Amino acid sequence: MSTVNAAGWKPTMGDVGGDAGGEAGAEGGAPLKTASGDYGLMLEEALIFELGAKDKCGVDFDEADRAPAAGLSKFLRKSVPDLPGLTEPEAVRHYTRLSRQNYAIDLGPFPLGSCTMKHNPRLNESMARLPGFADVHPMQPQTTVQGALEVIEQLANWLITLTGMASVAMSPKAGAHGELCGLLCIRAALDARGETRDVVLVPESAHGTNPATAAFAGFKVQSIPATPDGRVDVAALKEKLGPNVAGVMITNPNTCGLFESELKTIADAVHAAGGYVYCDGANFNAIVGKVRPGDLGVDAMHINLHKTFSTPHGGGGPGAGPVVLSQALAPFAPLPFVTRGADGMIHLVEEENRGEGHSQAFGRMVAFHGQMGMFTRALTYILSHGADGLRQVAEDAVLNANYVLRACEDVLPAPFAQSGPCMHEALFSDAGLADGISTLDIAKGLIDEGFHPMTVYFPLVVKGAMLVEPTETESKAGLDRFIGSLRSLAERAKAGDQSLHSAPHFAPRRRLDETQAARKPVLVWQG
Ligand SMILES: Cc1ncc(COP(=O)(O)O)c(C=O)c1O
Repeated sequence: MSTVNAAGWKPTMGDVGGDAGGEAGAEGGAPLKTASGDYGLMLEEALIFELGAKDKCGVDFDEADRAPAAGLSKFLRKSVPDLPGLTEPEAVRHYTRLSRQNYAIDLGPFPLGSCTMKHNPRLNESMARLPGFADVHPMQPQTTVQGALEVIEQLANWLITLTGMASVAMSPKAGAHGELCGLLCIRAALDARGETRDVVLVPESAHGTNPATAAFAGFKVQSIPATPDGRVDVAALKEKLGPNVAGVMITNPNTCGLFESELKTIADAVHAAGGYVYCDGANFNAIVGKVRPGDLGVDAMHINLHKTFSTPHGGGGPGAGPVVLSQALAPFAPLPFVTRGADGMIHLVEEENRGEGHSQAFGRMVAFHGQMGMFTRALTYILSHGADGLRQVAEDAVLNANYVLRACEDVLPAPFAQSGPCMHEALFSDAGLADGISTLDIAKGLIDEGFHPMTVYFPLVVKGAMLVEPTETESKAGLDRFIGSLRSLAERAKAGDQSLHSAPHFAPRRRLDETQAARKPVLVWQG
């Protein structure tokens, strides 16, 4: 098989790949096998348990150091632990080789819709690594961490200002954790009113964490359909409102990449029916500096600092999901809070010094006050952009997504393109691909083109969805390269190019069984 990718290069080895399951073969010749198992710089890597040996160690221990301190000898191991031993260069090479099998935002565009995988300015990293932030301990006396507390205070003020809300709870550790925090505030507010409303309305296009969080918080979830133009069906939502509805959870901009233009109308109707409005603000980067959710009637909204304000994420964290709150919910926000005393010092409001403003706090989300590294990175990003720069961030994110949308809509159907410009994400569907060729084949083909795939099969309201979020940090040249590849794949998919079925061909591993991987992961060495 011979494939020329859109970037114009042609592999000389044909179908290579560390997973010998593929049809590895030199073009027109016998299968190509190297003695080492590596293919040039595409390195094959064994598991650390296969590489290591029990009698090897990268460090020389002094025998005397092994003597246990008085009274601790009962804790001595009876046998050597079953861990692989490696020399230092072996260990370094193992992890370096593994890291080269991965894709990262520092290698190229990462158009994963809904995830906002944008470049993380290195300035943020330098600030977060300053010892005064990186080395603080949460139990240090507050007088010794005034600078760190001031970072939290300043960031909180920015978040309040940018969203037009009354207050912010800084401690939630991620977007979904923020959702839980917001719903617990709603529950506490209802308790204070002496009401037991148990239903939360969630649009069918919602991010999966929304219904999951509502159910986790003990609410019954009722789904709201979307209109043909990809927005919440307001009439259907109004029909569901009643004395049992605690609130709605609406993502804005939504997961179809569209602005919920009726949010104020929805909020007014929900409030009139006695409920609260939770907004999933994970996509805030599309509207920051342009729209204040507080002006639209939102009562609670989490902000994924690890998306809107850069900071690295993916692969499980770390993250930070502060929740901004309206006047109605602010008194119920979890502890702790930073507050500036009359003496000019910053203090943490805790259980024992709650004071009037926080007397109804529902408890706490986590042991301490948040994620210092992420706070420092996010504040650095905000201060280095300023208010005008943040507005530009939103405009560029939206511009880039619309550029991708309009550049590809003639080869890939864009279900809501007729509704006008999109926000920060361009959404395509699999309609019109040749029989048997799927969204997944295009996503895997992108790997061969040197890109991370877009988000696939989400949102669920679009068949074979492909959600592309270029973010504001991609240049026009970078977008043009990506668009060239996506267009080429779409044309191959429409023409029925069966080689797409076995993509990726040029990655360390070939097509994996993702269902098996998710349902039956093998996470433990079973040597
Ligand atoms: C729309 C939306 N809501 C919620 C979340 C959950 O955020 P987290 O992964 O930080 O829990 C995400 C994650 O990217 C998201 O895109």
